[in-house]
Amino acid sequence: MINTAINISKVSESKFTSIDLDNVTFGTIYTDHMFFCDFKDGEWQQPQITPYQPLQLDPSARVFHYGQAAFEGMKAYKDEHGDAWIFRPEENWKRINFSARRLAMPEVPEEVFMNGLKTLLEMDKQWIVPGKGNSLYIRPFLFATEAGVSAAPAAEYKFMIICTPVQAYYKGGEVKVKISDYFSRAANGGVGATKAAGNYAASFYPTNKVKEEGYQQIIWTNSTHEYLEEAGTMNVFFRIGDKLLTAPTDDRILDGVTRKSLIQLAKDEGIEVEVRKVSVKEVTEAARKGELKEVFGAGTAAVVVPITGVGYQDEHFDLPKLDNPYSTMLKEKLLNIQYNITEDKYNWTQ
Ligand code: COI
Repeated sequence: MINTAINISKVSESKFTSIDLDNVTFGTIYTDHMFFCDFKDGEWQQPQITPYQPLQLDPSARVFHYGQAAFEGMKAYKDEHGDAWIFRPEENWKRINFSARRLAMPEVPEEVFMNGLKTLLEMDKQWIVPGKGNSLYIRPFLFATEAGVSAAPAAEYKFMIICTPVQAYYKGGEVKVKISDYFSRAANGGVGATKAAGNYAASFYPTNKVKEEGYQQIIWTNSTHEYLEEAGTMNVFFRIGDKLLTAPTDDRILDGVTRKSLIQLAKDEGIEVEVRKVSVKEVTEAARKGELKEVFGAGTAAVVVPITGVGYQDEHFDLPKLDNPYSTMLKEKLLNIQYNITEDKYNWTQ
């Protein structure tokens, strides 16, 4: 690397005070600054922080043609003393590099990622709004900038971090999902476990289809449609009786940071957690017998989202309203750590 010191240019005036943070739609407003670091001539160049602004790219930049792009999602929280916390950032650094390797992009050095993240957050910390439910969603991403449409890995890339103040991902609560019996988001040997931008592009059409039937998201199944894998952009948990089930991570399933944190918290609460393949058959049979107590999605953006109904082919199962659902209890435990309300015995927050 040429020079690891960040070259900083600041806004002359923050736009923070002109923004109505009580009514933000997820991911529509960005903070004053952005971080970037270019990769060219085989090495990472000097990192920079500038005012948030549009990019200029050659129309033949490879990202537009061959989709060499991956992203991460993480959040910063502010506690009641005004101190800011980020949740397990090293997991996101490791995962962007897992995605980078699979998409033949250069890995982002830890110093570039962490120093960029911490410096940007320090500069834009007023944008981390205190209070449970408020957070700053951080979007690191990496993409191919080299001009030229030959189908080969690019020689030039840009790694960036941008930040957006957010509240709930799903406003209004009710999330119903339809189990896919046709579309798949991932295959063995494919890129499902990465946060490749194209995974999300490929999910929009099938998701639009289930929206026409009154569902908000799709539950992705494996290529034979026998096993349940993810829900929309989240990992997914099923509670049958008192057991909590979720699919193991593999080539197809994202190693979600919220997913792994919830597994740990649930086990520590004495809940029996089975990380194994979960079949469509067992979940639909449990639903018919009234034994499917809960289904919930887990992801950074949405945190924990209770699913109120599940559709499969011509059937629809409404889930019961429980007094003490696992989803609410686990979400509270997680948020209390993220907002520094309870002691973080796991050392997840920084
Ligand atoms: C996240 O939870 O950070 C995600 O990746 C979801 C995103 C597509 C909004």
